[in-house]
Amino acid sequence: MRIGLVGVGRIGAFHAATLKGLPSVDQVVVTDADVSRAELVAKDLGVEFAPSVAALLASGIDGFVIAAATSAHAELIAAGVAAGIPTFCEKPLATDLADSQRVVELVEASDVPVHIGFQRRFDAGYQAAAAQVRSGELGFIHHIRANTNDAFPPPAEYIPTSGGFFRDCTVHDFDIIRYVTGREVVSVFATGANRGESFFGQYGDVDAAAGLLTLDDNTFVSVSGTRYNAAGHDVRMEILGSLGSIAIGLDEHTALRSVESGVAFPGGQAHATFMDRFRPSYVAELTAFTEVVSGQREVPCTVRDALQAFRIADACELSRRENRVVALEEIGR
Ligand SMILES: NC(=O)c1ccc[n+]([C@@H]2O[C@H](COP(=O)([O-])OP(=O)(O)OC[C@H]3O[C@@H](n4cnc5c(N)ncnc54)[C@H](O)[C@@H]3O)[C@@H](O)[C@H]2O)c1
Repeated sequence: MRIGLVGVGRIGAFHAATLKGLPSVDQVVVTDADVSRAELVAKDLGVEFAPSVAALLASGIDGFVIAAATSAHAELIAAGVAAGIPTFCEKPLATDLADSQRVVELVEASDVPVHIGFQRRFDAGYQAAAAQVRSGELGFIHHIRANTNDAFPPPAEYIPTSGGFFRDCTVHDFDIIRYVTGREVVSVFATGANRGESFFGQYGDVDAAAGLLTLDDNTFVSVSGTRYNAAGHDVRMEILGSLGSIAIGLDEHTALRSVESGVAFPGGQAHATFMDRFRPSYVAELTAFTEVVSGQREVPCTVRDALQAFRIADACELSRRENRVVALEEIGR
């Protein structure tokens, strides 16, 4: 199969390399608004280059992968759907709710499969946790703690097209909370701060945030994250139930050290980036997309799922700005 990819920045170049290594993919062709970057990545990886999105879509591709900046997602998904080509798009759907809703309407009115990239759904730990929560073996879940801590911030130019901390970063936690529990968020209270470089504040964004979510079965979920966690890229979740408690992402590579004497755990090297932490998940995710392309499976993470995660992010942003509890019902469907 022939896969076209647009956007060869941090994640796009990584996805292009992953796609090239998949047994089901024969050819990869890449493009980018920055044509010279696309040419360079194509040369480095030994894949094809297309001079524009239009040329890429017209080049006989079977699947279209969007890894461009978030501000370009809505338009590029629309282009993939108009061309009738199964499309994978990185999270989130768009930078704002209105565009996200328009994407959902467009995709649901078509028969073109569109898969959104929340790779944690393909992580073995989150999958095992979902199975245990849903089997009831943990009893009722009273608390969940989720965190996404980046080791270092993205470049300043990434921030204005990112959608902001909750929509860009914590949105992964919001999606995986729904996936693991099968429950919906009913209300949020969130806050944030800019204690690192000032460019976050200049764009109205924060570099650290925390929120308390209440699920529709009265489970309390605390979510936190930062762009400044030099100890390592630290993505974990703890699920505390009436009959048992489990942790996802707690292993020898966890970016924590104990101050208790005689405790050597965790002893390994911490993950530096999301690529280190989720490498097998990205491979599984893009393999799943190729199965969507060949008609072997349904879309595993839909635009409707992405809209739900986005609504939670929007509620957190509103809560942070207005310093109050926000009901999800306030955020349009
Ligand atoms: N799932 C994950 O773990 C994960 C991790 C990182 C980034 N992402 C998402 O991937 C996307 C890209 O993030 P990144 O960190 O690679 O950003 P980046 O800034 O490194 O790269 C973005 C690339 O998109 C290109 N681009 C922008 N607008 C374009 C357009 N209209 N047409 C063609 N190319 C265009 C830019 O020139 C750049 O090369 C974002 O939406 C981000 O949310 C997801």
